[in-house]
Amino acid sequence: MEKVLAAIEKEKQLAASAAVAYIQDGQVIGLGTGSTANYAIREIGRLVQQGLQIRAIATSRKTQVLAESLHIPLIDSNGVDYIDLTIDGADEFNEDMVLIKGGGGALLREKIVASMTKKQIIIADSGKKVEQLGLNFKVPIEIIPFAGNYVINRLKEMGGIPSIRQLAGKTFVTDQGNWILDTDFGHIKDPRSLSQHLDEVVGLVCHGLFIDLTSQIIQGIDNSTQTIFRRSN
Ligand code: A5P
Repeated sequence: MEKVLAAIEKEKQLAASAAVAYIQDGQVIGLGTGSTANYAIREIGRLVQQGLQIRAIATSRKTQVLAESLHIPLIDSNGVDYIDLTIDGADEFNEDMVLIKGGGGALLREKIVASMTKKQIIIADSGKKVEQLGLNFKVPIEIIPFAGNYVINRLKEMGGIPSIRQLAGKTFVTDQGNWILDTDFGHIKDPRSLSQHLDEVVGLVCHGLFIDLTSQIIQGIDNSTQTIFRRSN
């Protein structure tokens, strides 16, 4: 039976609180994007009001606006060499901790921030873990608009079915001024190989497969949380 909305929100909130508990004074924190990350950002805002000393880097314009409204001190990504801890959401993940991200359109900055991060914690409700990656969620692929037709043709050659993301009847434009191709690859059996092939396409800026970037995943499940750790940890 499908979970009611309130139960899912509760799971997001529980996962977010559990992740925020890892934050320590003096750290540089990456702030993710999306409804689950927003719970973490609000919680961080409360802690900052109570005296927590952190500096944060936002993964999107939306997150920046929320963080600013909560008086979370934000810094430029170019001002640091690494980020201590990032808390972000995901659209899907499998048991190998391969994620699909970018449902909110922030995948490029999210991947940059994840790459700069020592410890990335993904927070999610109970519906995000899947047996077969890609079956229910298309892979968001950020592209330079100039390369649109070229990249679409390359993705089709790889067996993908790309569609240009629309929002309110218009082409969706990312924070960087790019487009997103939501691409259906069906069940992605070998995400590593697909990721490598995608990375070779000129004009393709970033894809939503996140591999080897996550340290742990905290999932809200009903009234508690479950944590999966990266095997090498
Ligand atoms: C944003 O671009 C995404 O990667 C989000 O992290 C992802 O879509 C999860 O969002 P929700 O927490 O809203 O499900």
